[in-house]
Amino acid sequence: MKVTVFGIGYVGLVQAAVLAEVGHDVICIDIDENKVENLKKGIIPIFEPGLTPLVMQNYEEGRLKFSTDAKEGVDHGVMQFIAVGTPPDEDGSADLKYVTTVARTIAEHMQTHKVVIDKSTVPVGTADCVRAVMTETLKTRQADIAFDVVSNPEFLKEGAAVTDCMRPERIVVGTDNAQVVDMLRELYEPFNRNHDRMILMDIRSAELTKYAANCMLATKISFMNEISNLAELLGADIEKVRQGIGSDSRIGYSFIYPGCGYGGSCFPKDVQALIRTAEKIGYTPRILQAVEAVNDEQKLKLPAYIKHHFGEDLKGKTFALWGLAFKPNTDDMREASSRVLMETLWQAGAQVQAFDPEAMDEAQRIYGNRHDLKLMGTKEAALQGADALVICTEWKNFRAPDFESVKNALKEPVIFDGRNLYDPERIIKRGFVYYAIGRGASV
Ligand code: UGA
Repeated sequence: MKVTVFGIGYVGLVQAAVLAEVGHDVICIDIDENKVENLKKGIIPIFEPGLTPLVMQNYEEGRLKFSTDAKEGVDHGVMQFIAVGTPPDEDGSADLKYVTTVARTIAEHMQTHKVVIDKSTVPVGTADCVRAVMTETLKTRQADIAFDVVSNPEFLKEGAAVTDCMRPERIVVGTDNAQVVDMLRELYEPFNRNHDRMILMDIRSAELTKYAANCMLATKISFMNEISNLAELLGADIEKVRQGIGSDSRIGYSFIYPGCGYGGSCFPKDVQALIRTAEKIGYTPRILQAVEAVNDEQKLKLPAYIKHHFGEDLKGKTFALWGLAFKPNTDDMREASSRVLMETLWQAGAQVQAFDPEAMDEAQRIYGNRHDLKLMGTKEAALQGADALVICTEWKNFRAPDFESVKNALKEPVIFDGRNLYDPERIIKRGFVYYAIGRGASV
């Protein structure tokens, strides 16, 4: 099938590459010329396991094209995906200006029937808004051309995006037109074998499903972080509690890992956007408000431990930081807890020597050349001469370091672990002071 994807961000690029891989004829449109030219040379704007070879191969074989020409994009696909960003506006609501711009562009150029598919995370009511913008634009053109608007949210995770897209757990389709369902069935047929993963519903329910899924996961995390704070105060070990409750199949083991707060481009933004949506219709979303507040406080947990240990004034102190990305297997630092940590340490006068396996360029881009941030080439180099080690991301190669050399490199053998990577008993036996999340240990 001929497919057009507007927006070469995370969702757009991965979705386009995966559709091309199964044989669809895909063109990606973006206004960023630089991005488009780079992609043609094989330079991929994001780090995502497995994505570069997938994009390159499909580009070389002609099933995946990149262009800035919106008209070319509209002419190409019967399916027109909208996968542009929906950043938060000043009050935290999702800003739809990029979505409506694409809707207008499609309506300006279309000559035949199009199926417009909202792939971006968009508030309930967006499909109506897309439909209104397109109807208005077609009216000014005096063009009587039919179109459909579908909500088909994406559920991929950064770091596992290609696999998530290739083997989706569910394909949510919100539409009011049975013919469109057939077209989407054909489009997704290669991903929908063995058993039917397509869940059909009305458009508004599909739009809300996306937010509800992310908010539910964020709720699980904030709930566990709250219990971890209680565990600490009550002298319990959250890791034991996690295993104890996870074994109940109704609760399950996933997304109940306590830590130094959730980050990324989705949970913080989506929780906030659903809060704003609720408030706008006069409903007070108490659980969601608490989820957000608990997370904001949780990001201050490691800085609080550090000040508890070293005092409020951190002038003259240097901290080794392992992990800048908001989670492993990505270079994304959006809303990462490492940022709150560094910014709080800098305010108290401290220096940071940081290492991350993938996010070093991103940190350089965000913070530039600061006198109080040194980006180090290895995790060992980050430790040299530092007063203590702080861990914000659970990258695999942080799990079993050579603890003797860690101890020798640090001025004081202290570890502040925001991801509960080590066994407190063993690490304390090795001579470390160990602060973790909800484990009592040295607090
Ligand atoms: C999230 C959802 O998991 C995807 O299903 C969704 O499609 C995506 O948002 C989106 O809306 O685009 P992502 O933001 O890539 O995916 O990252 P997650 O793996 O969900 O992790 C989010 C944050 O939660 C990370 O900071 C992670 O460290 C934290 N987390 C996760 C915990 O603190 N504890 C856990 O048990 C799990």
